[in-house]
Amino acid sequence: MTDLRLSSAALLGSGLSQAELLDLAAVARRAAEAGGAKLRQHFGRLERIREKSRAGDLVTEADEAAEVAVLAVLEAATPGLGILAEESGRRPGTGELEWCVDPLDGTTNYAHGFPFFATSVGLTWQGLPLLGALALPALDQFFWAAAGQGAWCNDRPLAISRCDQLAKSLLATGFAYDRCSRLDNNYAEFAWFTHRSHGVRRAGAAAVDLAYVAAGRLDGYWERGLSPWDLAAGIVLVEEAGGIVSDYAGQRLNPTDGRLIACAPGLHQALINDLAACEPLRGASYGAAELDGIAV
Ligand code: IPD
Ligand code: CA
Ligand code: CA
Repeated sequence: MTDLRLSSAALLGSGLSQAELLDLAAVARRAAEAGGAKLRQHFGRLERIREKSRAGDLVTEADEAAEVAVLAVLEAATPGLGILAEESGRRPGTGELEWCVDPLDGTTNYAHGFPFFATSVGLTWQGLPLLGALALPALDQFFWAAAGQGAWCNDRPLAISRCDQLAKSLLATGFAYDRCSRLDNNYAEFAWFTHRSHGVRRAGAAAVDLAYVAAGRLDGYWERGLSPWDLAAGIVLVEEAGGIVSDYAGQRLNPTDGRLIACAPGLHQALINDLAACEPLRGASYGAAELDGIAV
């Protein structure tokens, strides 16, 4: 069977020693903590909420302050490494390692005072995630993982769920900001899995959804339209906790595709089969008739 794990491929390719990997994981943890501290400071006290690329895609002074804090740690500790950060873009480094930063994943939640959000700091090699850290300041939880080092929350090891029946699973997903202008908007899949599981949560922070899969609190997750900074840290958490991460067809994930499954091993095939069954239903669900400029 093909090894789907991106983090072990990244470790092999990078040639990093365990000691170097752990040093970089310590930097990621410090950076995520710095971002999380800014989120804690601004939570419930926002003065500026504006829309970015499209309606509903929000950015606040907390996103910006957290990114500045994260980047300050990364730039001081690893000056040669590249950085891809959601709010300020890409600055190339000298090699193939790159930090991948979402200063505030779950901005909509944050802006409404809903406490499900995080600062996410991942490290990639040639775009493949190698390690990551996630600070959830409102829930007092801190997750981190590195290839071959396990996945951890508040110093406890994480283990993926043993669920192997879709009908008994708790799933999660999300809807990208382009959902009102595409037939491929995940509504059909949401309805399908809502009927076939114990339920589907849409908690609004992809990185945290992945961490919850790693922790066995969710049995599986799928989503489309995601960016590398939503995924980098969470993928390593799931893989290191014993879970599977793949594309919708069950093949090795290309993290720039933005479409993935992350789940307990016992549910992987069921999610692949049912996502394929949903394909012809796309656009048939609520909202499609009202869409303008529809893209499939
Ligand atoms: C968003 C969240 C959300 C997901 C969106 C993401 P942001 O990130 O992760 O759960 O459905 O696609 O863009 O904008 O809060 O950083
Ligand atoms: Ca995000
Ligand atoms: Ca964000």
